[in-house]
Amino acid sequence: MKILITGSNGMLGHDLINVLGKKHDLVPTTSKTLDITDKKQTIEYICDKKPDIVINSAAYTDVDGCEENQDLAYSVNAQGVRNLALACREIDCALLHISTDYVFDGTATEPIREDGQIGPISVYGKSKLEGEEAIQEILDKYFIVRTAWLYGINGRNFPKTMLELAENHKEIKVVYDEVGSPTYTLDLAEGISQLIETDYYGIYHLTNSGHCSWCEFARYIFEISKKDVEVIPVTASEFARPAPRPSYSVLENRNWIEKGFKPLRNYRQAINEYIELIL
Ligand SMILES: NC(=O)c1ccc[n+]([C@@H]2O[C@H](COP(=O)([O-])OP(=O)(O)OC[C@H]3O[C@@H](n4cnc5c(N)ncnc54)[C@H](OP(=O)(O)O)[C@@H]3O)[C@@H](O)[C@H]2O)c1
Repeated sequence: MKILITGSNGMLGHDLINVLGKKHDLVPTTSKTLDITDKKQTIEYICDKKPDIVINSAAYTDVDGCEENQDLAYSVNAQGVRNLALACREIDCALLHISTDYVFDGTATEPIREDGQIGPISVYGKSKLEGEEAIQEILDKYFIVRTAWLYGINGRNFPKTMLELAENHKEIKVVYDEVGSPTYTLDLAEGISQLIETDYYGIYHLTNSGHCSWCEFARYIFEISKKDVEVIPVTASEFARPAPRPSYSVLENRNWIEKGFKPLRNYRQAINEYIELIL
């Protein structure tokens, strides 16, 4: 298959290239070669390359930055996604788009299904939801893959921050009242590689299995990396940040399982492999 990938310099983009490059013909793009906020360029570029599928891993992902730079958030995460959907419609190709657990409000008490009550509480979440809605309005052939708490080799992320802090801190304060499923971008990329072989279009939740709070995740990271750091649990409200985060955003990978795919491995197995790789 010929696959056009946006955001190929990003954390997930990097693993998509690694995984998909083994068996497909890729057209990797960055914000320099294809700025998805430019409607004309986006349509012309995609019509010229004629991919079988577009995978959109580009986004403005700075959750706090989105509160400050709302225009940029909507321009990339909503309008940019709309432009991609319009381009895909022109050449009748499918679009696989990455979305987020932040489209939910965090009030759920059990794993959230794909048709769970939507209600983003941050500009990032609202802009990502607008992107989802544009796709559903414009296309029939789409996969919307909501994922969460990503970490990978190529980018800043929570495990790397914890390991950096461990270099010169004996105690680290970490939020305990936000619960989710940490997800390794390599596992997600492998899941995406299976999904695009099908025509099982629709909305998917796709994360590593299991869930934890940030605090539990930090403790586990220090345990497996043998760092002697005490993790002090704090509430999200003690940790003032510009954007509110959902307090519970565990995603039930229901559609994924119902379509016969194997659940992604437990987040503990995944982070073990990742820590071994980066240490
Ligand atoms: N990180 C998480 O914890 C998390 C959780 C849930 C969902 N997600 C979603 O997963 C996807 C991948 O996230 P990630 O963490 O891998 O993102 P990332 O590392 O921040 O990469 C995003 C990429 O988007 C590109 N980009 C930004 N503006 C663009 C534009 N106008 N045109 C074209 N490209 C543009 C950037 O490209 P350049 O480098 O070329 O400028 C960047 O490399 C995103 O859709 C995100 O919303 C992430």
